[in-house]
This record gives sequence, structure tokens and C-alpha cells, in this order.
Amino acid sequence: MSYFSQKVALITGASSGIGAALAQELVSQGAKVVLFARRGDRLQKIAENINHSKENVLVISGDVTQEQDLKRAVHLTREKFKKIDIFIVNAGWSLTGNLEEICLED
Ligand SMILES: NC(=O)c1ccc[n+]([C@@H]2O[C@H](COP(=O)([O-])OP(=O)(O)OC[C@H]3O[C@@H](n4cnc5c(N)ncnc54)[C@H](OP(=O)(O)O)[C@@H]3O)[C@@H](O)[C@H]2O)c1
Repeated sequence: MSYFSQKVALITGASSGIGAALAQELVSQGAKVVLFARRGDRLQKIAENINHSKENVLVISGDVTQEQDLKRAVHLTREKFKKIDIFIVNAGWSLTGNLEEICLED
């Protein structure tokens, strides 16, 4: 049995890239996952792709910079899955380019 079997993982930044891939892998190893990001439509599609019955997946749209969104995510996760074993703090972005050409707003 996988270490992740029956574990509950809340993944921020799950609507693309590393977060979406982690969600898929964790579900394939028997975990229950919470997909969190701003783009709820993308989260729904990912949830359908990785777990058709959706019983092991919870989608929550929100912004990690908003404290109330994070509190809601924790509350809804506990409500559905009764616990949180793993919190994957993955949401974010990066900027590439020359330092001389990047401004403070970027
Ligand atoms: N890929 C790499 O080579 C690499 C290297 C070093 C570090 N990283 C870091 O690893 C993480 C994932 O990278 P990735 O390549 O998978 O990036 P990605 O495909 O751009 O995914 C970023 C994720 O973060 C979410 N996100 C961004 N801002 C958010 C916010 N304010 N609230 C909630 N969710 C937010 C995005 O979803 P929404 O837009 O739907 O909210 C998206 O799901 C990032 O933090 C990145 O900086 C990546």
C-alpha cells in the first residue's frame, strides 16, 4: 500500500503545471486531494480527468493572498475529509528576464 493511501492533501496552485501533476499522482496512489487555485473552471476539468466520480477530489477556487479564502479552504477540507495530512504550498509564479529590464510592478 502506498504511503499516501487515504492521506488528505490540500494543494495550492493545482490548476496547472506541478500542482495539477501532483494532484494526479497523489490520487493514483490512493490519496484524497483538495485542488485550490483562482481558476475554478480549470480545477473542475482537472478534477474530472483525475477522478471521474470526484469522491476523492474537492475543488475550491480562491486566492492564496486572501486570508479568508485560505480559512475557507481549510474549513471545507475538514468538513468533507475530516482532516488535512499534507499541505502543498505550490501556488505562485516566476518571472524570467534581465534584472535591468524588470520593474518593481513586475
Ligand atoms: N516549473 C518550474 O520549473 C519551477 C521552478 C522553480 C519554482 N517553481 C514554482 O513552483 C510552483 C508551480 O510552478 P508551475 O511551473 O507548475 O507554475 P504554473 O503552471 O504557472 O502554476 C502556478 C499555479 O499557481 C496558481 N496561483 C498563482 N497565483 C495564485 C494565487 N494568488 N492564488 C491561488 N493560486 C495561485 C495558478 O493558478 P490560478 O492562476 O488558477 O490561480 C497555478 O495553478 C510556482 O510557485 C513556481 O514559482 C516552478
